[in-house]
Amino acid sequence: MKDNWRISDRVMQIKKSAIHEMTRLSKEMKDVAFLSWAKPTSDTPEHIKEAAISAIKKGLVGGYSVSSGLLELREEIVKKLKRDNDMNVNVSEILVTVGAVEGLSAAIMALIDPGDEVILPSPTYSTHIRQVIIASGKPILVPTIEGEGFILDIEGIKKAITPRTKAIMYCSPSNPTGTVFAEEQLRQLAEIALEHNLMVITDEAYEYFVYDNHEHFSIASIPEMRKNVVSCFTFTKTYAMTGWRIGYLHADEELIPQITKAHIPFAICAPLVSQYAALAALKGPSDCVVKFRNKYLSARNLMCKHLDDLSSVFEYKKPGGSYLMFPKILLKEGETDSTTFCKKLLREAKVSTTPGIAFGPTGEGHLRLSFCVSEEMINKAFDRMETYFK
Ligand SMILES: Cc1ncc(COP(=O)(O)O)c(C=O)c1O
Repeated sequence: MKDNWRISDRVMQIKKSAIHEMTRLSKEMKDVAFLSWAKPTSDTPEHIKEAAISAIKKGLVGGYSVSSGLLELREEIVKKLKRDNDMNVNVSEILVTVGAVEGLSAAIMALIDPGDEVILPSPTYSTHIRQVIIASGKPILVPTIEGEGFILDIEGIKKAITPRTKAIMYCSPSNPTGTVFAEEQLRQLAEIALEHNLMVITDEAYEYFVYDNHEHFSIASIPEMRKNVVSCFTFTKTYAMTGWRIGYLHADEELIPQITKAHIPFAICAPLVSQYAALAALKGPSDCVVKFRNKYLSARNLMCKHLDDLSSVFEYKKPGGSYLMFPKILLKEGETDSTTFCKKLLREAKVSTTPGIAFGPTGEGHLRLSFCVSEEMINKAFDRMETYFK
């Protein structure tokens, strides 16, 4: 009998999250400069909170909605996808989910059979790797090209395709690298998917946070790809609504009932109070999104300036999107890996980051820094690092 006879092999394969480990260690210390979470530190805008309070007071939120989500919300999502993502879609193609993460999980459960391979350009959001494992699929990590800013390695992806390949899954803008995959590369990826009959699963959580000359491109806007894509979105990042647990996905009309079969056993429906809040977010003013974006942009610039002063310790690519960056550690003698480096940095300089290995083997030798924090926090973290590495 195996030692952990109560626990499934699926779950046993999943390693403890490095982000949670860094959080746990940080909590044991006082006054840590914390750059470990990809979580907006701003509060949800007032008009969204007010709409939720009003829905509660009207007695609208005590029940379930239909599993696919409130019709009025899905209608607003359709307008948003048309306006901002160039996707001409119907209400019957939308499923409201418990954040992007539950949508991604439900999509994978609906698409992947045990042993199916899913190609993930890496380093990538560690949850994606876990989602494939939980579905008894096989994550195939294909390194991105770091020298060109962690762009897709199209040839590498082609080479990784086998008869068991079922899907390609990516996030753009990327967690952890901040790379925005260019439209041209995503069109090449679409050609590969069509040629080999593969599904593409996208995580577009950071769609509104792109900078400089970068533009977010939704691969589902390519008409030929309509049957081959599940696109996952969220309110978490755009409207600082992490704890509301609300997102949505788009897939073609035949796929939605199948994905819904996977959605129901985990969620029944997305939280109803959060659906009303999301409705207010889409119908209300969008200046809050612009404000968040501008805040992250100046935080990015500040962090890059600090990193320039630490060029003997880190080498970095300026991220074109998200609020994350992924500098390479110029390891010194005796320093072996990102986990040891990050733990030492926490213990000795009181700065919490995330070891790159958390994002797959290609992330080793890096650390992830979040700039969705106040400028004071960034200055504090870098003042400490500048003293520490002097
Ligand atoms: C790429 C990516 N996708 C999804 C999520 C989580 O999204 P949600 O809160 O909508 O489940 C995160 C959070 O860090 C993320 O970085």
